Amino acid sequence: APPKPTLSILDLHERAVSNLPPAVLAYVDLGAEDEESLRENVQAWAAFALRPRVLCDVSRCSTTLRVKTKFIHIETDSPIGIAPFAGAAIVDPERAEGAIAQAATAQNALYVLPHYASVPLEELALVAPRFLQLYAPVCSAQDPSVDFDYLETIIAHVADHISAVQAIVLTVDSPTFGNREKTYRNPAWIAQLQAERGGMPKLRALEAIDGIGKHPGHSPALSWKDIARLRDLCHTHGLGLVLKGILALPDALHAASLGVDGLMISNHGGRQLDAALATASAAFGILPPLRNAFPELPVWVDGGIRRGKDVFRALAMGCTGVLVGRPVLWGLAAEGQLGVQRALKILKEELVTVMKLAGCARLADIGPEHIALGMNKL
Ligand code: FNR
Repeated sequence: APPKPTLSILDLHERAVSNLPPAVLAYVDLGAEDEESLRENVQAWAAFALRPRVLCDVSRCSTTLRVKTKFIHIETDSPIGIAPFAGAAIVDPERAEGAIAQAATAQNALYVLPHYASVPLEELALVAPRFLQLYAPVCSAQDPSVDFDYLETIIAHVADHISAVQAIVLTVDSPTFGNREKTYRNPAWIAQLQAERGGMPKLRALEAIDGIGKHPGHSPALSWKDIARLRDLCHTHGLGLVLKGILALPDALHAASLGVDGLMISNHGGRQLDAALATASAAFGILPPLRNAFPELPVWVDGGIRRGKDVFRALAMGCTGVLVGRPVLWGLAAEGQLGVQRALKILKEELVTVMKLAGCARLADIGPEHIALGMNKL
């Protein structure tokens, strides 16, 4: 039979399934515990119906995203960016994040570089726009507070040497690891990973930075007072601060009132707190009141975005842009850098079709009037 064409993100997933050893696929696709949030993330987008407008002249349709704030200056070909994820080297041992970075550059997309990358930052941040995701490091086993010396060393190095990075993205949903039971149920996976991929990938993202040794683990003491301090540290060095892992409106408002430079609504792809609210529902609840109070704050959402229509739904709710995680890893598994580019292209082309059919020629035309809660609601 002729090979099946790769038309959608689901087709890329199918190819990833046939290309990856089961243990690797399981690492990418799993969620915490019963995987409620993992499933809901995908399904919740479908609860929001689109309300198209007609007769809008969509002969010239643009998906260009421009964001200009004090620290963040972005002009990307689409509002679809790449989420930070550890372990790309498990999928692509040769190039790992290097392939993703080149794909992001080729498609002019935002790439949030992961703290746990196995390629040095200097090789990933050649072209803007890039953000750098970090976990809050713990001081020591005896002292659970956040190690600001470690953070300052990284931030100063990035500010001085890596100009493509515009902001630090602090992941705030990980004071402890999620209960990823699937991993514990299958101890053989780890052994298999080691056998098949020559061991767990080495984390080399920060290796060029003097004074940064082995990552000490995450601080369980991270709290709002650290955010104010980290904001000052970033701003002093000319970088923005973005918080990733927000699901509740009071947290979004608190962060915004502290003067952070952006938010990422996320439940970590269902890998941390199982049963955490699906991100589509969180965005739908958070955005209207947040936009009232902070109309210009950049807000991204990630989790379960598999179609251009999901991107459109997120923008209609008031999000600035979206991030995708697994679709990028599936593209990487299917055909390396070109597969990552293909994932981004598929989503962008789907978005263009949805925009035209909904009567929106530019991202700024997409608004709350284009979305309704529930397929049968008036
Ligand atoms: C992640 N994610 C993640 N997030 C983060 O802030 N730091 C990290 O190191 C990781 N690692 C990671 C590994 C893998 C394999 C996956 C799938 C995800 C979460 C990621 O940034 C993002 O929030 C989700 O992947 C978005 O959901 P989708 O698009 O995968 O459904």
